[in-house]
Amino acid sequence: MLEVRDLETYYGNIKALKGVSIEVPEGAIVGILGANGAGKTTLLKTIAGVLAPRAGAIVFRGEDIAGLPSHRILARGVALVPEGRAILSRMTVRENLEMGAFIRRDAGIAADMERVLRRFPVLSGRLRQPGGSLSGGEQQMLAIARALLSSPKLLLLDEPTLGLAPLMVAEIFDIIREIHAAGTTVLLVEQNIRQAMKVSSRTYVMETGKIVMEGPSKDLLREPRIRAAYLGRE
Ligand SMILES: Nc1ncnc2c1ncn2[C@@H]1O[C@H](COP(=O)(O)OP(=O)(O)OP(=O)(O)O)[C@@H](O)[C@H]1O
Ligand SMILES: [Mg+2]
Repeated sequence: MLEVRDLETYYGNIKALKGVSIEVPEGAIVGILGANGAGKTTLLKTIAGVLAPRAGAIVFRGEDIAGLPSHRILARGVALVPEGRAILSRMTVRENLEMGAFIRRDAGIAADMERVLRRFPVLSGRLRQPGGSLSGGEQQMLAIARALLSSPKLLLLDEPTLGLAPLMVAEIFDIIREIHAAGTTVLLVEQNIRQAMKVSSRTYVMETGKIVMEGPSKDLLREPRIRAAYLGRE
C-alpha cells in the first residue's frame, strides 16, 4: 500500500531524514520506534504532506505522492493523527469531528459520523462542548475519531498514548486494534514499545534519521539489542 524509498527531509540545513525506506502492506499494522529526535514525527509528517521531502519517493497505492500538499494526500486516503493531538480547543467536539470530513464529497459522511459516535460514546455525550474541555485521553480519542471521519485507507498515528494513564493507554490500543480489524491500514509511532510490538506485524527502528533495524515484531521482541536498548528496564 505504501512504499517509502530513500526519503530525505530537511529543516533548513538540518537533514532530519537521511534516506529512509519503509514498506507498509495493505491491511497491516506497522510500528516505528526510536529515541527522541530520531525522526519519527518527521517521517509521518513527510508522508502526510505536512513537510516536503528533498529527495526520495513516497508511493501510495501505485502513485508517487511525495511533495503533494497535505489536503491532496488526505483526499487520497492518508490521514495523520499528529503528536500532541492538535484538536481545536475552542471549537466544539462536533465541529472538530466535522473538520475531519471536510475533504469528502461522498454520501457516507452521516453514516460514518453515527458509527464514530457509537464507537466513542464519551464524545457523543459532549458534542456541544469545546474540544479543550475534554481530558487528555478524550482529546486523543477526538483526534483519532476526526481522522477516521476522513475515511482513510492508511492511518498515521504519532504517539497516540503519550502522557496518558495506563487504563487510557489500553483503551487507545483497543481502538487501534478495532480500526485495523475494520480494514484500515495503520502506521504507528509509539513509545509504549512492548505494546506497540504486540499489536504490529512489522517494526522499524529509527536512529538519527535512519532505519537501523527492521523485521517481524515478534522476532524483534526477542532481539537482544532491542531488549537492551528499549525493553531493558521493563
Ligand atoms: N521544526 C524543526 N526545526 C528544526 N529541527 C527540527 C524541527 N522539528 C524537528 N527537528 C529536528 O529533527 C530531528 C527529528 O525530529 P523528530 O521530531 O522527527 O523526532 P522524533 O523521533 O519524532 O522525536 P520524539 O520522540 O521526541 O517525538 C531532531 O533532531 C529534531 O531536533
Ligand atoms: Mg515525535
